[in-house]
Amino acid sequence: MADQSLRELVPDHVADEQIVDYDYFNDHRFGVDLQAGQHRLHAEAPDIFYTPRNGGFWVVTRYELMEKVLRDTEHFSNRELDIPKSNSPYVMIPLNLDPPDHLPFRMALMRHFDPKTIRAMEPKLRGWANRLIDAVVDRGECEFAEQVGAAFPVSVFMELMGLPLDRFEEFRDIVLEYFGRTTVERRIELQERMMAVMWAEFEKRRTEPRDDLMSKLVAEQVRGRPLTDDELRSIGFLLFIAGLDTVANTLSFTFRQLAIHPELQERLAADPELAPEFVEEALRRCSIVQQTRLVKKDFELAGAQFRAGEMVVCPLALGGMDERRNPDPEAIDIDRKERSHLAFSTGPHICIGNFLARMEMKIMVQEWLRRIPRFRIKPGTEPQWRAGGVAALSDLYLQWDRG
Ligand code: HEM
Repeated sequence: MADQSLRELVPDHVADEQIVDYDYFNDHRFGVDLQAGQHRLHAEAPDIFYTPRNGGFWVVTRYELMEKVLRDTEHFSNRELDIPKSNSPYVMIPLNLDPPDHLPFRMALMRHFDPKTIRAMEPKLRGWANRLIDAVVDRGECEFAEQVGAAFPVSVFMELMGLPLDRFEEFRDIVLEYFGRTTVERRIELQERMMAVMWAEFEKRRTEPRDDLMSKLVAEQVRGRPLTDDELRSIGFLLFIAGLDTVANTLSFTFRQLAIHPELQERLAADPELAPEFVEEALRRCSIVQQTRLVKKDFELAGAQFRAGEMVVCPLALGGMDERRNPDPEAIDIDRKERSHLAFSTGPHICIGNFLARMEMKIMVQEWLRRIPRFRIKPGTEPQWRAGGVAALSDLYLQWDRG
């Protein structure tokens, strides 16, 4: 029976046994190991439950049920993705679009993220990874989350888009402040600064096309016409939002796991070809996104009565942590025979950048271990995380013996 004070906050169509106290941003279950904390929900809550916190929303906790929700565009919409609902008039293309509008825009973007295009970037990405490692290797310690994890995807993003690389430091500082703890006003200011730089570069590509993503987007056609200025701005902004913080934070959670598993460091340092397998396991064990949907038509799933206008949250970490799919899910095991995860979501909106993200992670793991084969969490430090739509480690102090 739900606590009476919670019951009063929950709509009548939610059964008592479906009510669970869960906070999207800072749940008491989370603990030191965020994803292991989320995993406690499998023992403590029904497969789908309702929490009155953060404006009230449903939470889907099992892999198969999340798959159903994320693939179902008839009952669920991407138009609103904020918890609590923000009713923002701003549309991020293609993320906030539903069928039939979604697909043409997704196709226009997707052809520039295919494996062949991304693979061609590999040597440059290795160069950037090494530049960042150069800056810390002789010090014997670093704060990884900001100095390496966050800086690396900024260089990759600039390389991909064709942004002027001599402005790397300026861009990195904007990104660090934007995704860090700051006020809403300051974030809008930073967004405007960043978009002004991007827009000036888009404009240059109209008269002087180059071999970069910005030039390709300027030349793209959707339904037989070029993208409008508003559409280009929206796509540019989404790529910024989607491609930086996600990689940075996945890298931090991944390197935390690596730091506490010396036997894994040894194996991966001895055999760099194992890195892609480790990356898949890290994506499964450390998924960071709580993917949301807006219910657009009433729908029943596993006894839950979703009503139009309600929000549904899929904590993607619980897909990888689902013992019905992955036995002993909290263990990091690169030898798993089978492995399922939803780190990049599934269905029509599955992450466009997943191939790039996987390559960034593989390269950083390989280059780091080549240069720093043994490392640990700096004694006396404890990484701090923040939860929400995209979970993050705010810091990760690593230490190693200088060679
Ligand atoms: C580890 C890193 C990453 C993670 C965990 C991640 C996660 C996700 C997730 C969960 C979605 C699905 C949203 C949904 O179902 O509605 C998504 C969509 C998307 N991601 Fe990523 N992402 C990552 C890296 C990237 C990168 C590097 C880029 C590009 C530079 C990117 C671009 C996008 C775009 C454009 C979409 C929207 C796709 C659509 O709506 O059709 N992501 N990402």
